[in-house]
Amino acid sequence: GLPPLMNRLLPGGEPGRLLRSALPLPARHAVELPVPAVLRPVRSDAGADYYEITARRATARLLPGHDTEVWGYQGTFPGPTVESRSGRRTVITHRSELPRPTAVHLHGGHTPQDSDGYPLDLVGTGQHDMAGMAGPPGTEGATVLPQREHTYPMAQRAATLWYHDHTMGFTGPQVYRGLAGFHLVRDEEEAALGLPQGPRELPLMIADRSFAADGSFAYPELPGGAPGVPDAYMNGVLGDVVLVNGAPWPLARVDRAWYRLRLLNASNARRLRLALDPQPSGGGALVQIGSDGGLLERPLRHDSVDLAPAERCDVLVDFSRYPAGTRVRLRNRLGDGPAGEVMAFEVGSAAEDGFRLPGKLATVERLDPAKAVNTRTFVFHKGKQHWTVNGQEYRPGRSLAAPRLGQIEVWRFVTDFHHPVHLHLDPFQVLGRAGGGPGGNDAGWKDTVDVLPAQGVEVAVRFTDYAGRFLVHCHNLEHEDMAMMAEFTTTE
Ligand code: C2O
Ligand code: CU
Repeated sequence: GLPPLMNRLLPGGEPGRLLRSALPLPARHAVELPVPAVLRPVRSDAGADYYEITARRATARLLPGHDTEVWGYQGTFPGPTVESRSGRRTVITHRSELPRPTAVHLHGGHTPQDSDGYPLDLVGTGQHDMAGMAGPPGTEGATVLPQREHTYPMAQRAATLWYHDHTMGFTGPQVYRGLAGFHLVRDEEEAALGLPQGPRELPLMIADRSFAADGSFAYPELPGGAPGVPDAYMNGVLGDVVLVNGAPWPLARVDRAWYRLRLLNASNARRLRLALDPQPSGGGALVQIGSDGGLLERPLRHDSVDLAPAERCDVLVDFSRYPAGTRVRLRNRLGDGPAGEVMAFEVGSAAEDGFRLPGKLATVERLDPAKAVNTRTFVFHKGKQHWTVNGQEYRPGRSLAAPRLGQIEVWRFVTDFHHPVHLHLDPFQVLGRAGGGPGGNDAGWKDTVDVLPAQGVEVAVRFTDYAGRFLVHCHNLEHEDMAMMAEFTTTE
């Protein structure tokens, strides 16, 4: 396992940087857990649902007694939740009134390239402060349009997806300001399970932030005031306040019943090892039913689950295992002090709950590595000034691999540091780590895998349907901004 200080002291690397808030930290469990509103389509027809989302600045009351300027989808942080049905097209028109342009990516979406939120496919008013935008190589090719229509065919299983900013070189600061929201996909296979729903289904976006004395988000700035990542923060920005759905260490009142928690680590760089405290007698309180790419074959019981940035874990918790009145804390065992706390649940009285945990959840096709036509290795490493993939800093249009659609390949991710590696377009299955089998949190379809220092990870992947240009990158957002990203081109 990881030593508890993994976030701040990585073997073979430099320490990451914790940015301390300049205001007194808010009290724990004093704010009620907010749940982002579900966005309504502006219209629907026989084939699709149509949505409109505008990214804009707004003032939010995230911390009691302070106003925080957020950059949010529809002006909220998190953005509104979009819900799609598997197999039914979702069309989202994105606009932005932000001071800087933005690209919008649906993380986990099985999406054709033109709707994928390529880092140079920007939306904005065209009246931007472009200071610093010329920094990363290739940014000159960017096009800023007043709006972009993203078409998501949703030819994919039920899963917890999320949408977020993906702007070339500035994803870290822009997501940090609030540009992230849930996008849930539902299907029949999942509906047949009768999982907890309505108020008993909670999407939980966990993200650490730091605050300046005036309540604004604190993020390191480059000389000259442009947002960016000075060298000292190249290992990632860590905050000292843990937000869940935008609220600091919130409290949720729950019935003594089963709940579905859709856990998402939306932090820029912080790793989480989530556990309930106290554990109910007998342990195994976190019953995992799904991962990044949807339902597992059968439920897996955990005492704790690890989530690197961008990973999701779908868990059920039976709060009837606790006596009424218990305050159950959700803690992060990799964080110390305030960063070790996430939120709390206050267990109420008994409630009607006909739910029985099914032994089998879903049919999960296995990608057979013996059928792989190709093995490719991607080395994630630190270059002179930037982070690199196979020795190269990201450059738009330079493709490092050309997998054929429909064929199984084995991809090996190798590093001497610590990187959550993410693939666009299609999910993969973890075959093993460090020459052994998959880890405890590697089950099912994944789109992000935490590659630990000196532990190669092998995955089986098969890209389907969409030929085009897609990305593989580190989801530590400061690493991503510091060029740890590469393109691959899928071909017929
Ligand atoms: Cu969550 Cu390429 O991104
Ligand atoms: Cu990284």
